[in-house]
Amino acid sequence: METTSSAIGYQPYLDYAIELDRHDPLAHFRDQYLIPKTVDGDPMIYLTGNSLGLQPKRVREALEQELRDWAEFGVEGHFNAKHPWYSYHEMFREPAARLVGGIPGEAVVMNTLTTNLHLMMVSFYRPTPSRYKILVEQGPFPSDMYAVWSQARFHGYDPNDAIVTLHPRDGEDTIRTEDIERYLVTRGDEIALVMLGGVNFYTGQAFDMERITAAGHAAGCVVGFDLAHAAGNLLMHLHDWDVDFAVWCSYKYLNSGPGGVSGCFVHERHAFEPELPRFAGWWGNDPQSRFEMRPEFLPQHGAAGWQLSNAQILPMAAHKVALDLFMAAGMEALRKKSELLTGYLEYLIDRIPGERYSIITPRDPKQRGCQLSIRTVDDARLLSERLLWQGVSVDFRPPDVIRVAPVPMYNTFEDVWRFAQKLAGGEG
Ligand SMILES: Cc1ncc(COP(=O)(O)O)c(C=O)c1O
Repeated sequence: METTSSAIGYQPYLDYAIELDRHDPLAHFRDQYLIPKTVDGDPMIYLTGNSLGLQPKRVREALEQELRDWAEFGVEGHFNAKHPWYSYHEMFREPAARLVGGIPGEAVVMNTLTTNLHLMMVSFYRPTPSRYKILVEQGPFPSDMYAVWSQARFHGYDPNDAIVTLHPRDGEDTIRTEDIERYLVTRGDEIALVMLGGVNFYTGQAFDMERITAAGHAAGCVVGFDLAHAAGNLLMHLHDWDVDFAVWCSYKYLNSGPGGVSGCFVHERHAFEPELPRFAGWWGNDPQSRFEMRPEFLPQHGAAGWQLSNAQILPMAAHKVALDLFMAAGMEALRKKSELLTGYLEYLIDRIPGERYSIITPRDPKQRGCQLSIRTVDDARLLSERLLWQGVSVDFRPPDVIRVAPVPMYNTFEDVWRFAQKLAGGEG
């Protein structure tokens, strides 16, 4: 291992980081989280919030509250618990919508991500003989690919024909918005559904959801996004952008714990279309008539009408704590800090001498969230292992990329400096 006094080890950069932390209006939020420790007992430099966000300290108490209420009330907890379980999901109605720029009623928290993606496609992928294709980006997360393939097959189409992949231009790593628009102008009449990630998990590219939705709609397509890497990361306005639907998970940037509940957005335009096909369950039924146990399904207005089952209280209790912190910090303030944090990371990486590292994530802050995907000529797996040994958590994605995500909620500018220092091979 190199331990040279690397070229980015200049004290002024560290002083600058410390100064930025000192003036960070969100700095106090870090204290709300449990930061994993190194073997020496120091806080790790945790840069994998894009994969699994850290545990808010208050989660334990929130879970214990539900366990106490369960022990004390049994089934009566549905109505007598501190947060009655019968209406528990309603606590997310407003904050979940606010998180993605929706209006209350456009968002619901339920199930898990891939499940919700399927539920949305049941309603919004409505292929016809002349318009049956699904447009996806190159290299979507495999679960998304399996979901769209199986949906195409479910409707009797050959996925090799029905799934259309958008590629970057030769020699480029990310897809240009104008190329997506051009595709939709020329071939959009074949596309039933445009289904992209809000941020691609591998490259970190944030797609221009507003322009893509407009182009998709102009071509007569339905437009949906998987926001797994966008929720809690980007500032979004799904309602104003007219996005048809979106789904996200809560265990990455939203810090709600492994396998946590998922969010789902359905635009108000589709809020009350009882004729929309959907896979129904009793929790999506109008609550007034839910216990009449009628055979016919009467969907609730809005996204809530897609619920299947009664609320998953324990993961939702964790999500409630985590989401409250987002509401307290505010997405605008988080995004402002995030641009600075990632910009600082980019600046320091660019100053590492030599050609060992290249950033494949777009340079334009509008086209990325907090993650930078760094390609290396070294063995990327060994590099991530070396960094972990040095107390830095990043992740490796084959063949040659490490993903690094300084999150504004709990990472510091000093974290970024120390990471960059170690990446360069110096102390830090
Ligand atoms: C973009 C994307 N889609 C889908 C998934 C799968 O999510 P889940 O296992 O919650 O269904 C993930 C998980 O990391 C993801 O990053």
